[in-house]
Amino acid sequence: MRIGIIHSGGDAQGTNAVIAASVKHGLRLGYEFVGFIKGWEGLLDMDYINLDRDAVRGISHLGGTILYTTNKGRFAGKAGLGSKNEIPYAVLSQAKSNLDTLKIDALIVIGGDGTLSAALQLQKLGVKIVGVPKTIDNDLGATDSTYGFHTAVDIVVEALDRIHTNAYSHNRAVFVETMGRHAGWIALHAGLAGGAHIILLPEFPFSYEKLLWTMKQRKQIGEKYSIIVVAEGAHAKGEELTTDKDNDKPEVKLGGVSAQIMHKIEQMAPDEFEMRNVILGHVQRGGAPNAYDRILSKAYGIAAVDALKNGHFEHVVSLQNNKIIPVSLVNAVDKLKLVTTDSMAYQAAQKIGIYFGN
Ligand code: F6P
Repeated sequence: MRIGIIHSGGDAQGTNAVIAASVKHGLRLGYEFVGFIKGWEGLLDMDYINLDRDAVRGISHLGGTILYTTNKGRFAGKAGLGSKNEIPYAVLSQAKSNLDTLKIDALIVIGGDGTLSAALQLQKLGVKIVGVPKTIDNDLGATDSTYGFHTAVDIVVEALDRIHTNAYSHNRAVFVETMGRHAGWIALHAGLAGGAHIILLPEFPFSYEKLLWTMKQRKQIGEKYSIIVVAEGAHAKGEELTTDKDNDKPEVKLGGVSAQIMHKIEQMAPDEFEMRNVILGHVQRGGAPNAYDRILSKAYGIAAVDALKNGHFEHVVSLQNNKIIPVSLVNAVDKLKLVTTDSMAYQAAQKIGIYFGN
């Protein structure tokens, strides 16, 4: 079998480990691999490299992706929360015909919900596909954990540890914005692990009045500083998401909400708090994967090859109760995993007095 590997969308720590593990495992089974450069764009432009043993030597611990990536381009599978983007038939059939020309029997597609939605559309033209769930956001309902998430949480926790000492020393209220799109997993897990006092999540629209009251209350009881972790998709009740209006991608680009909240608090209570705002941004996707993500990525890469070997096309490899199993691609792209009040970390945070603003 000749297998093509595609990584599309935002990078996440562990991609190189997925690629290396797939190739190492597959070579032992007698398979061949090619990797498309910049994801679907490489497939459409026939831009690829052969992935032999030398190509994947010594890459598993490295961040980023040796195949490069893009979340722009002709193959955008999602246009926003829950809305699909139809890829033109001409584009899909060009991809299919390029695969035929290159004699590629099957694809391993590494991506989040947008990439996997695109994969589903290509699969309808008869392409054999297995997906690998990637995103630091951990918002795919198909799996207990996407790879990249745990490393992103570690990075935010390290930043919070450092922000604590600054906020404490200056008696400040510091807002810290995290990624995650419409899901609050990074903010919730990092906020809990990193000792946040307040966490604002997209899943639970907050009230400015209650947020201000809580910040004042903390001061009154003698707390000298506050750390407020804000997921980029957080918004006040009745307010819209904060997005980059100049963005030309089909998916909305989030970011900037923590600064807005800080300014609103300043308007509501001028000079009451000394405040600062920190947007962690793409730092959360950078650098090497942690041990957990390396193991998960390797296991995903191996499982993807096994899924193809066993004829489990149209599937995504999924972590469920510590086992990796193939689940249907159709179901995988339709379920966004969001924080609920019965999530373990939410419950724990609530019980130790972390405030969610709602
Ligand atoms: O989906 C992963 C993610 O990092 C989101 O958390 C964030 O909103 C988005 O990608 C940022 O994408 P870009 O790399 O295009 O700025």
